Amino acid sequence: MFRTLTALSFASLVLGQQVGTNTAEKHPAMPISVCTAVGSCKTESTAVTLDANWRWTHATTGYTNCFGGEGWNATACPDGKTCAANCALDGADYGKTYGVSTPSSGALRLQFVTKNDNGKNVGSRLYLMASETKYRLFSLLNKEFTLDVDTSKLPCGLNGAVYFSEMDEDGGLKRFSGNKAGAKYGTGYCDSQCPGDIKFINGEANVDGWKDGAGKFGACCAEMDIWEANSDATAYTPHPCKVTEQTRCDGTDCGNGDDRYAGLCDKDGCDFNSFRMGNQDFYGNGKTVDTTKPITIVTQFITNDGTDTGTLSAINRFYVQSGKVIPNSLTVFEGIDPVNHISDNYCKQQKTVFGDNNYFGTIGGLAAMGKSLTKMVLVLSVWDDYAVSMNWLDSKFPGEADATKPGVARGRCEPTDGEPATVEAAHPDAYVVYSNIKFGAINSTFTAK
Ligand SMILES: *[C@@H]1O[C@H](CO)[C@@H](O)[C@H](O)[C@H]1NC(C)=O
Ligand SMILES: *[C@@H]1O[C@H](CO)[C@@H](O)[C@H](O)[C@H]1NC(C)=O
Repeated sequence: MFRTLTALSFASLVLGQQVGTNTAEKHPAMPISVCTAVGSCKTESTAVTLDANWRWTHATTGYTNCFGGEGWNATACPDGKTCAANCALDGADYGKTYGVSTPSSGALRLQFVTKNDNGKNVGSRLYLMASETKYRLFSLLNKEFTLDVDTSKLPCGLNGAVYFSEMDEDGGLKRFSGNKAGAKYGTGYCDSQCPGDIKFINGEANVDGWKDGAGKFGACCAEMDIWEANSDATAYTPHPCKVTEQTRCDGTDCGNGDDRYAGLCDKDGCDFNSFRMGNQDFYGNGKTVDTTKPITIVTQFITNDGTDTGTLSAINRFYVQSGKVIPNSLTVFEGIDPVNHISDNYCKQQKTVFGDNNYFGTIGGLAAMGKSLTKMVLVLSVWDDYAVSMNWLDSKFPGEADATKPGVARGRCEPTDGEPATVEAAHPDAYVVYSNIKFGAINSTFTAK
């Protein structure tokens, strides 16, 4: 939700937008189920690809880096267009270099820190593919999305995140002539933080004004966070934008700093974090939803008229564990109706009681989110937070605020737990496993008992 800079793999590697031939790109298989009713599901042969930002990018002629510890190589990358023409994006050795594996059919395991020949890789971000060259697009209105998550080995400060971003189906291959790699190589990422650390946007390198790991452009698009979590905290959050496709931003539109509530996207979103909403005994180690064991997470996108073309009116959440369906926790706050789902009314009341800017409502709330939900790409990731140490998810935030003020406490973690240097040194072995993805009609992917 307050995601800004992603911890990138090894400083020495980089990307381009041509295709490199050093390593053959072979997408790990990750089949999913598509359901029409309980017991009526079909398997779909999907796979995953690694985001372009993690890949080695080198000169098309030879193997010199286009980007290194000192930033962009000025010879290969004097400007964005030339750089995209000069640099190639290579295939990924998923297991060895990035710690990405498929322990069983339909399961994906992401290792937090992986030692490799180049040093180490930190975190990863992958996208579900429908074919070799196209992302699998999801139309979520009047549908539900379900998966199993094992967060037992994800401590405070980490985020195992499963979400949808409104990326181009082909990664921007058709829209941007400078992009020759496309979805096969994980190009075209965007999210509601309009991240500036994306090295290639719209088929051009983001070299202009590159400083402290970010360029002057950002990559904006609507984002629906299904699952942002570790073993101590969790939130699900819609983040609508004023735009309904991947859009390169510049200046105010990026919503950086003081422009936060003037940009193209709702960076705060309207989150539902059970701990933050007043139930501190619901989620965690040994709690009602017990993070020492795998959890099934169900998210339903309800429309006003119960059809796929209606307006998004609510986002419901259920958990299933040990065969038992556990409804989401109820909010407990004076001024907020006791509800266990997200609606525009919930968002308005929450923002009012917590004293937060309701930019979510300003740019159209759930109806705006719904417009984007018809063509979303599934993102599976694990990351640590170089901006604010994941305090917005599992500790207190903003840091200077009184933790007893409504909305400030998000979880039991210490604010320092998520400092990247600390968590990378203390928990390199951390990992998350995502499995059994199911998608389909409301109430078709799990059994209500
Ligand atoms: C920068 O790129 C040029 C042209 O590809 C190459 O000759 C040079 O070795 C590169 N420099 C570094 C430090 O990689
Ligand atoms: C789904 O199940 C819930 C709980 O049993 C029920 O309240 C709801 O009406 C069902 N929705 C649909 C569309 O069947």
